[in-house]
Amino acid sequence: MKNIVVLVSGGGTNLQALIDAEKRGDIKGGKITCVISSKADAYALERAKQNGIATRVLVRKDYADVHEYSKAMLAALNEEKADLVVYAGFMTILDETLCRAYPNKMMNVHPALIPSFCGKGFYGLHVHEAVLEKGVKVTGATVHFVTEVCDGGPIILQDTVPVLNGDTPEILQRRVMENVEWKILPKAVSLFCQDKIKVENGRTIVNE
Ligand code: GAR
Repeated sequence: MKNIVVLVSGGGTNLQALIDAEKRGDIKGGKITCVISSKADAYALERAKQNGIATRVLVRKDYADVHEYSKAMLAALNEEKADLVVYAGFMTILDETLCRAYPNKMMNVHPALIPSFCGKGFYGLHVHEAVLEKGVKVTGATVHFVTEVCDGGPIILQDTVPVLNGDTPEILQRRVMENVEWKILPKAVSLFCQDKIKVENGRTIVNE
């Protein structure tokens, strides 16, 4: 059984999707053992507690810089014996030492079709604002492995939704979450826990 540690910063609907999937038996070969939040008041922590999952809080401003913060995070992940680290709405950057300590063992869900609308500054609602501003007709979400390049690691799963007339960033965010994020994140986690994802030459081979 692989230990899954989930990193969060906010509402935690993606964490909830993982918890629900685990309860249904849809996370094969893995168990959520700890949730670590970068914010003390993140509602995601409540979701973890309600489901009997251990929690930790690591607040960025309690540390001098990104390296000190990453060191503390690495110590926490090692203590938790993490086999897989999942960024589920985790909004704090971690340094390359941490990324290299868990190569192809950290995954992130991003609310757009990478390589569009990603990288620095593209997070949360801002992504959907940019999508509407550009006028693209299709958007979606991506689950990818985390490397030191922001949103640049090997892509694991993607799926799409249409952008419709009259969409607001909030409406579009909800459509992307419900139809894509909450489905592909648990699926990617389950595939990982069953050793069904290989990485070769910076690309994944996924055996669904
Ligand atoms: C999700 O849409 C997630 O994809 C996004 O933040 C939201 C968190 O919601 N993540 C990023 O933008 C990371 N670059 P949640 O807390 O309800 O899961």
